[in-house]
Amino acid sequence: MLTFALALSVLPLIHSASVSSSAAQTFLGVGGSGAWWPMDLYHFPEATRQNLSDLLFSQDGLGISSYRWNVGSGGVNVSNPVRAPETFYVSPGVYNWSADAQGVYFLTEASKRGVPGLTMFANSAPAPLTSGGTSCNSHFVNGTGAAYGTFLADVALHFIQRGIGINHISPMNEPDNNFGPSPCGQEGMQVFPNQRAEVVEGLYDALSSRGLASSVGVLADESSSLSLATSEYGSWLPQVIDKVAALVHHTYDFPSDPSYRSYISTTSTLYPGKATWMSEICCSLGQADGTGRGWSEGYDPTINNALMFSGLMFQSFIVAQEPHYDFWTLVSNQLGCSPTEDPSCVFESNSDGWTDGVIYYDGSYASNGNHDLYISKHFWTLKHFGNFVKPGSERRPIDNDASLNSMAVSTASTYYVLAMNPTTAGSTMNLTFPDAVCARTAWRTSASEDFVEVDGAETQNGEEWILLLTAISLTTYIFDKSAC
Ligand SMILES: *[C@@H]1O[C@H](CO)[C@@H](O)[C@H](O)[C@H]1NC(C)=O
Ligand SMILES: *[C@@H]1O[C@H](CO)[C@@H](O)[C@H](O)[C@H]1NC(C)=O
Ligand SMILES: *[C@@H]1O[C@H](CO)[C@@H](O)[C@H](O)[C@H]1NC(C)=O
Ligand SMILES: *[C@@H]1O[C@H](CO)[C@@H](O)[C@H](O)[C@H]1NC(C)=O
Ligand SMILES: *[C@@H]1O[C@H](CO)[C@@H](O)[C@H](O)[C@H]1NC(C)=O
Repeated sequence: MLTFALALSVLPLIHSASVSSSAAQTFLGVGGSGAWWPMDLYHFPEATRQNLSDLLFSQDGLGISSYRWNVGSGGVNVSNPVRAPETFYVSPGVYNWSADAQGVYFLTEASKRGVPGLTMFANSAPAPLTSGGTSCNSHFVNGTGAAYGTFLADVALHFIQRGIGINHISPMNEPDNNFGPSPCGQEGMQVFPNQRAEVVEGLYDALSSRGLASSVGVLADESSSLSLATSEYGSWLPQVIDKVAALVHHTYDFPSDPSYRSYISTTSTLYPGKATWMSEICCSLGQADGTGRGWSEGYDPTINNALMFSGLMFQSFIVAQEPHYDFWTLVSNQLGCSPTEDPSCVFESNSDGWTDGVIYYDGSYASNGNHDLYISKHFWTLKHFGNFVKPGSERRPIDNDASLNSMAVSTASTYYVLAMNPTTAGSTMNLTFPDAVCARTAWRTSASEDFVEVDGAETQNGEEWILLLTAISLTTYIFDKSAC
């Protein structure tokens, strides 16, 4: 280890690397969730709601390919009204389609802008179905799987028939937690590991009987951490493995590379051919190089923390070779400061907010009328992934030391090289490709730049391409797959 550390520290700032001729995984999506900001943003002026929808769902904005709509349980016993989404459920087979106008608005805007991956996820079954008759501090009741599955499948069918192409349903978000005690800060239904097969089965059967089983996949089980996922799969997954489209997990244990690799290898050995992916993360402080990461309160809108989150995405895409990555809430009111009192506070770190969004708004908008949107560096770094890591494109490994902070994305006509420099010294990557390429342009995000167009890569011999990586930055270099 000591030798390795020394070797790293004396490496020249020019790194040579090459893009592989064979593909690793095919990407499926990049995105985030619509919880719980729609409750507030629905009340903003229409022009702002449209602007926000463009910022999230259009290629001119993040260009995300995955949007997770939170199907509400009714918010019973949830004290924070922003985190208490309405439910369509009235009684068995009876639905109130006027409910959740807030969530449906942004789901519809995502659909209109062509976001290809639309997931419906629930933190809890409708309150009347749970053990406490509540939306939190409750657990799943044995024997209600069919009723819960019927509710979810009926809701999906209703929106699919109205042109909203929901393609995944996740019936239990963080089933390891009931988010009590009551009154609770959010919805949450505990589903004990030995109950999870019934939840999956109830939903799969309800989708099947509506002819949706092949077009709407069941995602499970959104464990909070990889360690819980690994220890609990054995209790439920073997019974329903064929009914689960993909195993999705959160990484609130902020796993090291070896523990992430171990999760992947154990899961792929026991459940071969089943995709796993990251469906939620937020709320970590830490530096660009990944030091200091871990679940924590604190608002840090700076490039350092934004690159730390980019490093987490590289970890899932490169170390774990997963095909899909969702950030958590996308939009948040957890600024930890009042922008009407101090307009510059939104750009500075503080310990009272949370780093759980990429766009922020004033939680006091209802009383002070402030409808501004505040864009953190995380928006601009996530835009590199949202704009250039599209479903159907493939990852091509990049060899050498640069690989963990850079990723090549290949389409039929183009390479996108996302390259991060988390250090305070500028560096250069000399990159070669397995086929003839011609540099087009590049886009860079750094302390002073927000996804700014910069010079494309240069070459002297037509083979080695020089990618400048300025200090503390994320750059995407674009290459056409044809000679200049
Ligand atoms: C349906 O939802 C709307 C919107 O929240 C609400 O005003 C109405 O009371 C609900 N109706 C029923 C029958 O629950
Ligand atoms: C829900 O809230 C009511 C009123 O405070 C309380 O009596 C009840 O115990 C709570 N239910 C649960 C399951 O926590
Ligand atoms: C619920 O069902 C599971 C699976 O059959 C079983 O293991 C568990 O003991 C049941 N729980 C209760 C409280 O009956
Ligand atoms: C959308 O919001 C962003 C962030 O506040 C702002 O910079 C931009 O000008 C707005 N665009 C429109 C069209 O209002
Ligand atoms: C990087 O590429 C340039 C131009 O082809 C070449 O002169 C230089 O030797 C390369 N450096 C390394 C370390 O490969």
